[in-house]
Amino acid sequence: MRIPSQIVDQVRDSSDILSVVEDYVRMKKAGNNYVGRCPFHDEKTPSFNVSPSKGFFKCFGCGKGGNVITFVMEIERLEFVDAVRWLAGRAGIEIPEHRVDKEAFQKTEVIYHALRFAAEYFSLQLRETLSGTQARAYLHGRGLTETTIERFQLGYAPDSWDGLLKAAERGQISPEALFRAGLVIKRDNGGYYDRFRGRVIFPVWSHIGKIIGFGGRALQEGPKVPKYLNSPETEVYHKKFVLYGLYQAKRDARQQDRILLVEGYTDVLALYQAGVASVACCGTALTSQQVKLLGRFVKEIQLLYDADTAGATATERAIDCVLQSGLNPSVLRLPEGEDPDSFVREQGADKFKAYLQSETKDWLDALYAAARQKNLLHTPQGRRQEMTRVAKRIMWLLRDQLLFKFYVAKTSELFGILEGDVVQEVAVLVQGQKPSEEAASGQGDEGSVLDTIPEAEKTLLQLMLVEGIPMIKYILDRMSLEEFQEGASRELVEALIDFYFESGDQLSGAINPEQLQLDMLGWQLVAGLMLNRHEISSNWEEKKIDVPRLNQDAERIAKDSMRKIKQKLIKEELKELIFRITNAEAGSEAQMELQEEYRERLQHKRAIERGEIFEERGSEAPKDQEDRKAAPMNIPAGSGSSMNLFE
Ligand code: UTP
Ligand code: MN
Repeated sequence: MRIPSQIVDQVRDSSDILSVVEDYVRMKKAGNNYVGRCPFHDEKTPSFNVSPSKGFFKCFGCGKGGNVITFVMEIERLEFVDAVRWLAGRAGIEIPEHRVDKEAFQKTEVIYHALRFAAEYFSLQLRETLSGTQARAYLHGRGLTETTIERFQLGYAPDSWDGLLKAAERGQISPEALFRAGLVIKRDNGGYYDRFRGRVIFPVWSHIGKIIGFGGRALQEGPKVPKYLNSPETEVYHKKFVLYGLYQAKRDARQQDRILLVEGYTDVLALYQAGVASVACCGTALTSQQVKLLGRFVKEIQLLYDADTAGATATERAIDCVLQSGLNPSVLRLPEGEDPDSFVREQGADKFKAYLQSETKDWLDALYAAARQKNLLHTPQGRRQEMTRVAKRIMWLLRDQLLFKFYVAKTSELFGILEGDVVQEVAVLVQGQKPSEEAASGQGDEGSVLDTIPEAEKTLLQLMLVEGIPMIKYILDRMSLEEFQEGASRELVEALIDFYFESGDQLSGAINPEQLQLDMLGWQLVAGLMLNRHEISSNWEEKKIDVPRLNQDAERIAKDSMRKIKQKLIKEELKELIFRITNAEAGSEAQMELQEEYRERLQHKRAIERGEIFEERGSEAPKDQEDRKAAPMNIPAGSGSSMNLFE
């Protein structure tokens, strides 16, 4: 359906291109414009420009450009009309449409409307009612200024069962809408009552600035009242994607390229007042989705949890989560018993900032210090166990070879062991072999994806990763996708093919796995394969793990491995054919066809065994070939069954 042009204009004008783009790309100010790494093609140096004043974007790398609507069309892969609708939804503009769509739009709009209404109601209660006085005094007593209260739209829910319900009724908002917004609770005997009663209210925003839920703090703490009460999950509030304070912090965070992660609502507010950008999870543990969201704005996440046991545990978990998402965690510990809110209030903004500057530790130093404090490093056993925990974490850094090396060096220094031993430990973990203590205590990871893939295939994948484009071309010219085992192996090959098509022939050298589109399993596989590059081979050769000397005759190794794979496949194929021939009606046409096929495949098997399918005419046959009796090089190269991916 066509959207009236004045509405298209209205949608375009009310959509700030920078903030839309920032939901996908980390942008930095450069003069009047902002630049970042293009979301439409892979690049190392940022050439993707946004001009907020002119309202358009342009990438000098890939040439894509346009306005906010074209951006959404490209990035969300939408048609024009749907892109406009998408932006309208974001800006809260209603588009007159045919009924079904209108209902869909209204479905969530009703909830957003109720949430906005409630936020205004709570804030009015705080500012203008007698019962709000106590709450106001409480907030002031905690050192919060009027500006902060306004910016975060803090409020107060009066101590009543139906304060919000009644106000909503006057505002023509149904109890059903309040219920779907998580604001009221259903009574067993029908009817509803307010969820938040007698509490200071913290509205929770999505990172694009829509109110999606609330947190409420009890004014009087008691054994029977929970200190904080939070909105439940609703159609619009998905906690694992949400961070409190991100909407208010994202601009500063982007400029500084880092953000603090704290535990509580009040911590975010106190830090905001001190001029430090921070976010908090709303009563849940940190998720990878939240870290990914932060990754759009910053590279470093400073973990600043409460200085108690719970905070220490949460910090360790958060380090894992951040490392796994490819961001850089650092840790700031507070004096025992403090939380950021209390600490910044005692110290004042300047002292706090100085503390932040001087006391923020690299995650590895922080973990080591924590372990030492807990007396975990006194015994060789203790050190060994901590070492394993560190190795598990540096495993994630294999994406970045250089960073990996730095952390290996650092670990070796801290623990006073050889770098090779650190790498070996990581290798063991990637291989999914449990170090003895962990096996005994029954924890540790399940088997590695590496174990499920045949050695020959691993060698090929490794060769392609290490030797880069020429080897990808060489191997995939001779292997079809189907010849790789289904699952992680085949998916990695697909990612390599995509990579080849995107980067073309020119590129040389090892492939940076960060440029491949990999899921978790694919990444684990790549990490395992990349590890073979390190000099741990003496140990591995003892275990009969195939460690090809790369660069030395890489093609020969590739050919050997391809032959092994093809031999195995053709043997299975022949077995299957024999089965079908025996089961076919004797002397039938079908059986004869199968026999013909069998002969053809048998010939192919011989060609594989002799290496003929890989050879150029007249070139030398592989040295370690089992069957060297006759190798007439008279079959042209490429006559194998492989589908040619590059022709
Ligand atoms: P804290 O207990 O550290 O709260 O819980 P706080 O932020 O320091 O609160 P004040 O300073 O006493 O007011 C940290 C966070 O854990 C969640 C809330 O999100 C809180 O901000 N929480 C805590 C709950 O969801 N429910 C609770 O009962 C307690
Ligand atoms: Mn706290």
